[in-house]
Amino acid sequence: MFTIVKDTEKKLREKSVPVELPLNAHDKKTLLNMVEYLKNSQDPEFVEKHHIREGVGLAAPQIGLNKRMLAVYFKKDEELIVHALVNPKIIAHSVKMAYLSTGEGCLSVDSEHPGYVYRPNKVTIQAFDVIKNAPVEIVARGFEAIVLQHEMDHLDGILFYDRIDKTSPMKQDENAISI
Ligand code: NI
Repeated sequence: MFTIVKDTEKKLREKSVPVELPLNAHDKKTLLNMVEYLKNSQDPEFVEKHHIREGVGLAAPQIGLNKRMLAVYFKKDEELIVHALVNPKIIAHSVKMAYLSTGEGCLSVDSEHPGYVYRPNKVTIQAFDVIKNAPVEIVARGFEAIVLQHEMDHLDGILFYDRIDKTSPMKQDENAISI
C-alpha cells in the first residue's frame, strides 16, 4: 500500500529525475506495485476495506518518489490498457484537442476544481515499458492519451487544474473532441 502524496505537499510540485536504465530491481518492483495499486483501486471490496480512491493512473511523485515513472491501468470496451513506463517522452502529438466532459480527477487532489483540461487527442510516446521489459513506442488516442498526458505532467510537477482556464474554466472549444 502507498500513502498518496497530496497537492498540499511541495514534493508533488518538483520536477522528477530520469531513471537510469537498466532499471534496478527496487524501481522495477515499485512500478509494478503502482500498477497493482491501480488494479486494486478498481476493486470495490478492496476500496471499501482500505478506504482508497479509484484511479486509472499513478505517477511516482504521487507516492513520494520523484523519478520519471508512471503506471496506467483501465479497461476500455473489454480491452485492458496497462502501461508501466520509465522515462516517457512525447515525440509527436495531434493538433486536434480533446477533453473529458466530466473534467479530470487526480488521486492527489481532494478539492474540487471544475473546468475543462484540453490536451492533444493523439500522442506518440517513447518509453521503457517494465511489463514488456522493452523500449516501446505507444500511439494513444482519446481517454488513453489524456490519462498518459495527465500522468506525464506529474513528472514535471504539473497538476491538471494548472491547465484549466482561470477566467473561463468551462469555456467550450468547438474543435475539441469531448470524451
Ligand atoms: Ni493525477
